[in-house]
Amino acid sequence: MAKRSFPLSKVYILLESGPVVMVATAWASKMNVMPMSWHTMMEFKPPLIGFVMSDQNYSFGPLTATKECVINIPTIKIAEEVVSCGNVSGARINKFEKFHLTPKPAAKVKAPLIDECYANLECRVADKSMVEKYCFFVVEVVKAWIDPAVKDPLTIHHMGKEDFMIAGKTIKIKPKMN
Ligand SMILES: Cc1cc2nc3c(=O)[nH]c(=O)nc-3n(C[C@H](O)[C@H](O)[C@H](O)COP(=O)(O)O)c2cc1C
Repeated sequence: MAKRSFPLSKVYILLESGPVVMVATAWASKMNVMPMSWHTMMEFKPPLIGFVMSDQNYSFGPLTATKECVINIPTIKIAEEVVSCGNVSGARINKFEKFHLTPKPAAKVKAPLIDECYANLECRVADKSMVEKYCFFVVEVVKAWIDPAVKDPLTIHHMGKEDFMIAGKTIKIKPKMN
């Protein structure tokens, strides 16, 4: 394969393509939500997720103060609302009202589930040792919800700037054991 040099500033585009999620927080009875794509699974049992949440975001304050959040997983149905939530700060507006998102009470945390998202992960911060240096949080999923009616969720995957990929065909690949 003939390769060409790729700009370091665009490396994130090659790896960022997990589903865009909506991180919901609640602090002093104010709820907020922000889209996020810089996240990664870290452990199965208990399920641990790592993510980068910039300290420039309003959500950083509620997350560090309450140590709780809900990671909501949207589909294409609310893609425009998701992207719009990422271009305005919860410090100034109520994004649930503005973007017609429905908050539902969670079972184990104060942050809300977003009803329009097909899956919701209630999380507690498990490790904040890399927050100061990288704004990197490790959270443990303490309760998970899924809509059984959604068989093949058309999740949205950020490809940089205004480009998104929609989840596609699922195939099975069996390892060849010789
Ligand atoms: C598709 C998309 C993905 C994003 N991913 C992240 C991310 O992984 N981490 C982060 O800190 N901000 C991310 N952002 C930016 C925040 O969502 C954005 O700054 C948002 O307005 C913060 O909201 P808040 O100030 O109400 O917390 C992303 C935005 C978009 C549109």
